[in-house]
Amino acid sequence: MGPRLRGDDIEDGSPRMPEHPAISDKTAFIRANTRPRAVPLVPEIVLLVADEAVPLWHKTEEELGEAGLPPPFWAFAWAGGQALARHILDHPELVRGKRVLDLASGSGLVAIAAMKAGAAAVTAADIDAFACAAALLNAADNDVTVTACQDDVLAGSFDTRWDAVLAGDIFYERDTAQRAFDFLSRHAARGATVLIGDPGRSYLPRDRMRRIADYSVPVTRDLEDAEIKRTAVWDLRPSKEDSTPA
Ligand SMILES: C[S@@+](CC[C@H](N)C(=O)[O-])C[C@H]1O[C@@H](n2cnc3c(N)ncnc32)[C@H](O)[C@@H]1O
Repeated sequence: MGPRLRGDDIEDGSPRMPEHPAISDKTAFIRANTRPRAVPLVPEIVLLVADEAVPLWHKTEEELGEAGLPPPFWAFAWAGGQALARHILDHPELVRGKRVLDLASGSGLVAIAAMKAGAAAVTAADIDAFACAAALLNAADNDVTVTACQDDVLAGSFDTRWDAVLAGDIFYERDTAQRAFDFLSRHAARGATVLIGDPGRSYLPRDRMRRIADYSVPVTRDLEDAEIKRTAVWDLRPSKEDSTPA
């Protein structure tokens, strides 16, 4: 079975913070195990992607001599990220001239879309070192520059004020979803534009968000048990209790 993101399949627990010292040249590993392909819903962006998740997952574990690593999320364009990237490219005013955070960046897809839409600067944040490397590589291949951040920005001690925070497909694990929602709510309360792309993962707090667009996203059957996933873009407005000045 592939690394599906139904949320209810995935064991809950504290966030994993993988460090991969054994593969010193992550860039070479990524290039050797992926190939460039246009993103189905965002064909103006080409990403280094894998054909299948499980063989790459095993290869990473074999090369590192470690078991229990997280799936290679960075090697795929997930439904939430595709919808959010499409939405930003079609509505560039959402990010134009802004300092943007792409939370849970994976391949860097949303970060790249934000730069192409005219953001002033974009940080791609992901706790997986491979995702950070992939985001830098994919950004360069798409002729934009982003900054990568492997720190866990959800940990609470990060006080950077972003003008816009974007999150593609992060609501698949209970604990991370809760921490992401708290983080996003804090930024919305401070006046940041907060946008989420999500195909209805188990821990998406949909009753606390506003659905602003819908997309039919072509996805990998190996990952999702579907060819197309209906995916929404949501925005987060501060609730009354969140709207006290931060
Ligand atoms: C399903 S992927 C989505 C990637 C990308 N946004 C997309 O839509 O294609 C989820 C990503 O969240 C990352 N992640 C999990 N917990 C995180 C955290 N606390 N901070 C940042 N990223 C995290 C994972 O490493 C993974 O790359």
